[in-house]
Amino acid sequence: MSEIRDFIKKLPKAELHIHIEGSLEPELMFKLSKKNAIEIPFKSVEEIRLAYKFNNLQSFLDIYYAGAAVLITEEDFYDLTWAYLERCKENNVLHTEVFYDPQTHTNRGIDFDIVINGIHRALVDGKNKLGISSKLIMCFLRHLDEADAFTTLEQASSHLDKIVAVGLDSSEIGHPPSKFERVFEKAQSMGLLTVAHAGEEGPPAYIWEALDLLKVSRIDHGVRALEDEALVTKLITEKIPLTICPLSNIKLCVFKKMSEHNYRKLLKKGLVVTINSDDPAYFGGYINQNYIETAEALSLSKEELALSAKNSFIASFISDEQKKIYCDLVDKTL
Ligand code: ADE
Ligand code: ZN
Repeated sequence: MSEIRDFIKKLPKAELHIHIEGSLEPELMFKLSKKNAIEIPFKSVEEIRLAYKFNNLQSFLDIYYAGAAVLITEEDFYDLTWAYLERCKENNVLHTEVFYDPQTHTNRGIDFDIVINGIHRALVDGKNKLGISSKLIMCFLRHLDEADAFTTLEQASSHLDKIVAVGLDSSEIGHPPSKFERVFEKAQSMGLLTVAHAGEEGPPAYIWEALDLLKVSRIDHGVRALEDEALVTKLITEKIPLTICPLSNIKLCVFKKMSEHNYRKLLKKGLVVTINSDDPAYFGGYINQNYIETAEALSLSKEELALSAKNSFIASFISDEQKKIYCDLVDKTL
């Protein structure tokens, strides 16, 4: 094993950009489709894997939403989340902030409570049995309308103890953050923090809107920020983190190849950038694989990798005391 791979495996990390539905491995998808008698358009696990060839965000989302249809019971959501937490353990992820998309499930008749209760119960067990701390972030699907998002926020109002923030995901182009300004305002009045996907495929203007209108604490992706100098200055001076997902960006053709990814440029400029897996079952790897492929393609040093790991704790929604404990652990690996 190369020295840098070994270093990455030992590095304590937080993951801040992971869609729990995107951790649904083909094996579990196949098993659940049989158990729940939900038809999927694949005859085998191998066929599912072969279908994972995408040319943009939408081509991925079409398959991703179809796959999520096998999730029916609270136990299914528990098992999905537990499987991800076991991967966290293998990848030395000490803290994770998990996205989920309630509308993907409620819009096909699954009760809001079933979804959140299954995920939350696994996260509690993850803390107790694996020592992994976590937060849950409820995302709105931006291709749906404002009214649907308001209904979802209302459904969440009796579960505020289980979620730390709201987020915004799904098809970016044509669905600017401004579409959800009033929903996010209401979420904040309920005590929730906010994050949003912006600048993945969409223009820097969407990142401005996420900051100015949705008052986000972090930008998810944000790689297109580099096209706007004033925006870069704002992100640096206000220390607004970007949760970057390198393998996702390659699989969805945001960059042609990893050697062209701008991660190192952003890090060198002093932005608070972090490395994450996004939808690891679909994009070819969990967080360590993202660190490894980014490090190898961009020749990241151990110091740059440790800085990325420290950024992940600093950018998280844990307490300052906890951030210091985790960052000290990272320093000890150098
Ligand atoms: N939902 C799951 N993965 C996503 C991504 N990369 N961008 C937008 N929405 C998503
Ligand atoms: Zn994402």
